[in-house]
Amino acid sequence: MTAVSPVQEDVVASDRGASLLAIAAEVASCVKCGLSAHRTVTVPGEGSLDPPVLFVGEGPGAEEDRTGRPFVGAAGQYLDTWLTPIGLARSRCFIANCVKCRPPQNREPHPDEIGACLPYLERQIAVIKPKVICCLGRIAAQTLLGTASSLGALRGKVHERHGFPVVVTYHPSAVLRDKAGLRKPVWDDLQLLRSLLQK
Ligand code: URA
Ligand code: SF4
Repeated sequence: MTAVSPVQEDVVASDRGASLLAIAAEVASCVKCGLSAHRTVTVPGEGSLDPPVLFVGEGPGAEEDRTGRPFVGAAGQYLDTWLTPIGLARSRCFIANCVKCRPPQNREPHPDEIGACLPYLERQIAVIKPKVICCLGRIAAQTLLGTASSLGALRGKVHERHGFPVVVTYHPSAVLRDKAGLRKPVWDDLQLLRSLLQK
């Protein structure tokens, strides 16, 4: 393998940074779906330019809609506690959502809204080239894997999407609501994620 010099790495990083900024700028003025009418600010996603893991959630909640940053509310703080045990600092990851604007009253995004927004996520994936994608919850899993299967059926194995390994686990909000039943499977899913990172 040819060694990449620190200078070349800087060029790759700045190209990626510029591409992500361009996507975020398009998102900021996007009116491709009805969610644009309800948002305070868009939440394009953020994180490392060379992440071991891309986490994909559903869509911004109230705190995200206020700050423009993904997973900063209760679910995000809970997500942070999942990362440390598997040796992942949040700053090393990239975090994004299926839709970049908050659905009113935190309802699930509709299929047409997800379809309108998906190209942004696809472009983000193509730019950052994560080692592994981890879907948080059913909406992200079904969207990225193009399936209507249940989360229970999708978790526990490694999928592939455009050449990227994909694992699936429950959404942190769901685990916060139902700690007893979901903590163990989430723990197992995190171990699967960790094993992929060690390869
Ligand atoms: N839930 C999500 O799915 N995404 C966020 O960014 C916050 C909460
Ligand atoms: Fe555009 Fe996505 Fe926001 Fe819809 S949710 S307006 S597609 S950025």
